[in-house]
Amino acid sequence: MSFRLQPAAPARPNRCQLFGPGSRVALFEKMAASGADVINLDLEDSVAPSDKDSARQNVIQAIGDVDWGNKTLSVRINGLDTPYWYRDVVDLLEQADERLDQIMIPKVGCGADIYAVDALVTAIETAKGRSKKISFEVIIESAAGIAHVEEIAAASPRLQAMSLGAADFAASMGMQTTGIGGTQENYYMAHVGAKYWSDPWHWAQAAIVAACRTHGVLPVDGPFGDFSDDEGFIAQAKRSATLGMVGKWAIHPKQIALANEVFTPSKEQVKEAREILTAMEQAKAKGEGATVYKGRLVDIASIKQAEVIVRQSEMING
Ligand code: COA
Ligand code: MG
Repeated sequence: MSFRLQPAAPARPNRCQLFGPGSRVALFEKMAASGADVINLDLEDSVAPSDKDSARQNVIQAIGDVDWGNKTLSVRINGLDTPYWYRDVVDLLEQADERLDQIMIPKVGCGADIYAVDALVTAIETAKGRSKKISFEVIIESAAGIAHVEEIAAASPRLQAMSLGAADFAASMGMQTTGIGGTQENYYMAHVGAKYWSDPWHWAQAAIVAACRTHGVLPVDGPFGDFSDDEGFIAQAKRSATLGMVGKWAIHPKQIALANEVFTPSKEQVKEAREILTAMEQAKAKGEGATVYKGRLVDIASIKQAEVIVRQSEMING
């Protein structure tokens, strides 16, 4: 047991992050009116190179003009391997309203990527006298990103969230698939004539959760490309929630309610967690560290498990 206590991740709901291209201004009001906890205005891969400058200006304008309510407002900048990213940071920090909460840095490969953006952001914030410190979120979507995931999670006190980006990740890893998240046709085990599909994203997700939980960062599942497949989305989201992730992206508005449903602990889950806490209180009063709840063992570790669910529910509800 380390004597260091695990830092808590930011206590804000992050059940669904809704994306929209910075070039589609008509979507901004709809995004603001949606049920997503986080809004990601995109300057990166959903914006064509010829639209980069105009999208940046659209986004800067909309940050101040649109009523974003109490949502976390984030802008995805271009990757550090492009000629666009520095202008994204400079113009956002110099021109955008203080309503902007967060910058999402895509395709991070090492801690120094975060350091570079942090240095630029810090200089502009100081020069411009911005009173609100911008926070960061990153996407792990390359072999280098997952290889250096812990160093990335520890790279800046600004870092609040980390997502798995399945499409770029698959490409970088050389995975033989064009699917964005979810079940992959050829990733199965065969047994006496039957096929059992397994989860090719599992290891990357677990690595991200471990790095995030070590450093007090929110682990988030990224996009699920086939927005006609609700069942597949829900199954992927439930696996992510079971592994410790707190939310998932929506790349179409129909995915928002699905993500909110999965990442909000259900009434039954909360009731059971509270009953476990009560059972352990009663055990403690009798001087016992372990007891039986619904025919199964609960002990002092069960208190911590139950508290995860109760805390998540209380944070979401208020
Ligand atoms: N946010 C809010 N509203 C959205 C939306 C979004 N991301 N995408 C679509 N809508 C709206 C549409 O404007 C339409 O509204 P209406 O009923 O008032 O006309 C409604 O939802 C249904 O949209 P639909 O016609 O099914 O989708 P589309 O063809 O307009 O767009 C996509 C489909 C996938 C191109 C679009 O959803 C999109 O751009 N998603 C985000 C992509 C992105 O940001 N990628 C980067 C991260 S991976
Ligand atoms: Mg990507």
